Amino acid sequence: MERASFWDERVKTFGHTGWSNPMIYAYDQAARINAIEHVLSEISLPQELALDFGCGVGDFSNRLSHRFQSVMACDISQTALEKATQRNGRNNIHYCLPEEIGCKEGQLSLFLSITVLGHIMQDSELEVLLSKAHGWLHEGGAIVALEFAPEQIPSQSSDYQKFRAFDAWKNIFDAQGFELAHYWGFYHPTLAPCRSFTNYKNKVNVRFWRILNRFFKVSHRFENIADHVVRNAQDYYWPGTPQDPMKIMVFKKK
Ligand SMILES: C[S@@+](CC[C@H](N)C(=O)[O-])C[C@H]1O[C@@H](n2cnc3c(N)ncnc32)[C@H](O)[C@@H]1O
Repeated sequence: MERASFWDERVKTFGHTGWSNPMIYAYDQAARINAIEHVLSEISLPQELALDFGCGVGDFSNRLSHRFQSVMACDISQTALEKATQRNGRNNIHYCLPEEIGCKEGQLSLFLSITVLGHIMQDSELEVLLSKAHGWLHEGGAIVALEFAPEQIPSQSSDYQKFRAFDAWKNIFDAQGFELAHYWGFYHPTLAPCRSFTNYKNKVNVRFWRILNRFFKVSHRFENIADHVVRNAQDYYWPGTPQDPMKIMVFKKK
């Protein structure tokens, strides 16, 4: 499948499915994980089964496996699933392709999707997925999605991401029986940089590794620095406003 091969290639090239710039990726992935941990602590959900939809290399699946009795984690990229199993394999995580999701009606506590739904280009495909999710989720469950959801969509388009405005997201979910229960703004390295990201980017050691990274593979060098910065900051997510380009949205059944 063409879409799957795009993501397979990214895993082969970068070792993950996130930002290609390793300096950004290290901060971004740590910030996403911490922000989602915070959101999950704020919204009270049953702790049975969670689905990590579009799990990539399984970083969120791993975190979910500490909170939920079991985790199903799916991705269209077989290469991502293999990497996820190697890197984030745990006894209570079941990695699979999307068509192998074996979820019964009303069984799911959480449907988590971190920058995946925007890669579903056809609204009709997204509608089918959300309608299935509606059936899988039990009454107290929720969909948590981190997405680009600006007030106005940019004029340029992308071959692998469908830009949807905040209202468009709400309408698509609404039509499948969901309402927005909470939302948070989330930083973006260029559209909504936060202070801790700017400080991290300008650190002497980060600038040094950025130069070296042009010649050698030193991507791992950013990880410890970013983890430390992210652990000591909380400015990369905040109570949402419609103007925030990136949003963590929590949808519940109407
Ligand atoms: C930007 S990455 C995010 C990965 C992971 N959620 C994370 O944040 O670390 C998007 C992921 O969605 C997967 N994906 C794209 N379209 C998908 C679809 N229709 N069904 C399932 N996974 C999909 C890709 O293979 C890729 O791993």
